Amino acid sequence: MITQDWKLLGQVEELKRELESKGGLKELEFNGRKIVLSYYEGEFGALNNKCNHMGGPLAKGKLKKGCIECPWHYWQFDHKTGVALNESTEPLSSHGGTVPNLPLKIENGSLFIDLNGESERVRANYNQGRTNLSRQPNREPGKIRVLGLSTTAMDREHPRFSTSETLLKSALERAQQSLDVETKFLALSELNFRHCEGFYSKSEKACTWPCSITKMDPKDEMHLVYEAFVHWADVVIVSTPIRWGNASSLYYKMAERLNSVQNQITLKDRVLIKNKVAGFIITGGQDNIQSVAGQLMNFFGELGFHAPAFPYVAHSLGWSSEDMERNMEYVSESEYLKNNCFELLARSVELSKRLIQ
Ligand code: FES
Repeated sequence: MITQDWKLLGQVEELKRELESKGGLKELEFNGRKIVLSYYEGEFGALNNKCNHMGGPLAKGKLKKGCIECPWHYWQFDHKTGVALNESTEPLSSHGGTVPNLPLKIENGSLFIDLNGESERVRANYNQGRTNLSRQPNREPGKIRVLGLSTTAMDREHPRFSTSETLLKSALERAQQSLDVETKFLALSELNFRHCEGFYSKSEKACTWPCSITKMDPKDEMHLVYEAFVHWADVVIVSTPIRWGNASSLYYKMAERLNSVQNQITLKDRVLIKNKVAGFIITGGQDNIQSVAGQLMNFFGELGFHAPAFPYVAHSLGWSSEDMERNMEYVSESEYLKNNCFELLARSVELSKRLIQ
């Protein structure tokens, strides 16, 4: 039988005043063991300070209507029982288990905690049915698999001509006909995905693989990009327009969400993207091609992709010749550009074969 170990925490009235002035939460520490003490509407609570999800520090969160909201990904736990609440929206759509609680008692105006009375932690399922994403990346046998990823922003209900996407699709079609490969096309503009919320800036451990947003939000479709990059594709060909001298805004929105892939290398020495190749198609009415190419190559290199020789194909009419009508016509009729994009894809496939061997 475990004996009780009651420790004095202080005078009740003083603790009430202190906790009320601090928003209702206080971190306690006993020989390195951290506990969050709370006070809400006349009642104290004590929980293990580690969140059930990824171990976020609950004492640094917020007390909201009797629940402690974790500062990392906003799961909420009853401040006395530690039971996760499911009344909130996206983050809590699966049950969040129970954070261990500790008994408290008041005697002669003083508050005590039983350090031996901590309850069991009940773990939760957070993956929203996408646990498969976290499997070990092992290449499935079969033909070389080529993903064409268009980052062009557009309203898919009212599609318009995109020079970069046209060149990408033409290269994929030709590859499907003349190379022994499987191809897939993905347009970021067709996906519903959230901006990165910068969990990494709170703590490097708060930016998880699979991405915390993917795990919390069943409506977020960034898992399609993760699945293709980490598991399915051997070759990724990315197309982007040049927007004010940079890649498209959708490209950057996606790139920020890929922090969860890249940080596995820095955090855990775990390389999720191995022996894969990335090439780029860049088009614009004006210029800044090399700057955009540099950014893309740098980022994909940091993710673990290899670059083929001559890793990008680009087109621009130049600063003094911008003429969008003529530009669309030029690209749609240019066999030269289409050939070059196909050859980029073919070079990437050849490199991929060598890497896989
Ligand atoms: S919600 Fe607490 S660590 Fe994720």
